[in-house]
Amino acid sequence: MTIREILSRAGKYLKERNIEDPSKEAGLLLSWLLDKDFGYLYAHDDRDLDGFEAERFWNLIERRGNHEPYAYITGRCEFMSIPFEVNPHVLIPRPDTEVLAEAAIYFLGKQEYFRPEFRSLYTLPPKPSYTGLDIGTGSGCLAVSIAKLAGNIFFDAVDISRDALETARRNAALNKVDKRINFIESDFLSDSFSPGRKYDIIVSNPPYIPEGDIPSLMPSVRNFEPYGALAGGEDGLVFYREIARKAPILLETLGIIAVECGFDQADQVKQIFEKNNFACAVLKDFSGINRTVIARYKV
Ligand SMILES: C[S@@+](CC[C@H](N)C(=O)[O-])C[C@H]1O[C@@H](n2cnc3c(N)ncnc32)[C@H](O)[C@@H]1O
Repeated sequence: MTIREILSRAGKYLKERNIEDPSKEAGLLLSWLLDKDFGYLYAHDDRDLDGFEAERFWNLIERRGNHEPYAYITGRCEFMSIPFEVNPHVLIPRPDTEVLAEAAIYFLGKQEYFRPEFRSLYTLPPKPSYTGLDIGTGSGCLAVSIAKLAGNIFFDAVDISRDALETARRNAALNKVDKRINFIESDFLSDSFSPGRKYDIIVSNPPYIPEGDIPSLMPSVRNFEPYGALAGGEDGLVFYREIARKAPILLETLGIIAVECGFDQADQVKQIFEKNNFACAVLKDFSGINRTVIARYKV
């Protein structure tokens, strides 16, 4: 069967299974399998796939048709334009979370990463290097990208999942920041979580989906992404309350907290921090949704 024929069949198959952008997804999977760029498929669309290639490709298409995320199939994704390994132990980093990473890099004085709306945001007092805490590091996308792109920060990155931490460790090595990130296996919600130091910056994209909403998530999320990375307690806000409660022992007086939240949670998250004597700012994601809350103690 030629590339053109199999791509056409695969596109139809994925469309019937309600996969968005089915032709593109089929093309991306075939170019990944053949280790060729997308353009190759169109320039050589009359090339015959051998039986082995066709069988492997169809296996990938069936997995995708079953709503398995593309990134889990290939084991790779990009965040802040840098490469990450992903697997079903870690949440797939989302483009929306890049706003938080960019803001953190801005706070650290690397202002080439700023957007116009960051101009009114805080920066940290000048220091040769800073300390950061990443709560619920997962793939390590926040700690790794911030450490790599800011260059002047040492992170503690905590996660309750040992498998996630192993993935994050590999991502730190892949991006050559492993000497600047210390990975900690711990339950942030427990009272025993106590790294015994204060941080200039705390970043977190915690689990924030209210437990009752999980069954109505898209199948690619609810059937494949780790439950522990999604469920944020009954109302989805448990981690924000805990971050605000532990801030006096974790955050330097002039330090900054940056957290991602759900599409309708920014006001509640802001209130949690404001009740704990923080001043807050809210940043929108690429779709214009209030997505990242920045908090700093009132002076
Ligand atoms: C939404 S994922 C975020 C992953 C990554 N930071 C990102 O932005 O893609 C939340 C992470 O928090 C971790 N987590 C869940 N409960 C935790 C807890 N009690 N203490 C520490 N980490 C926890 C999960 O294992 C998961 O890796």
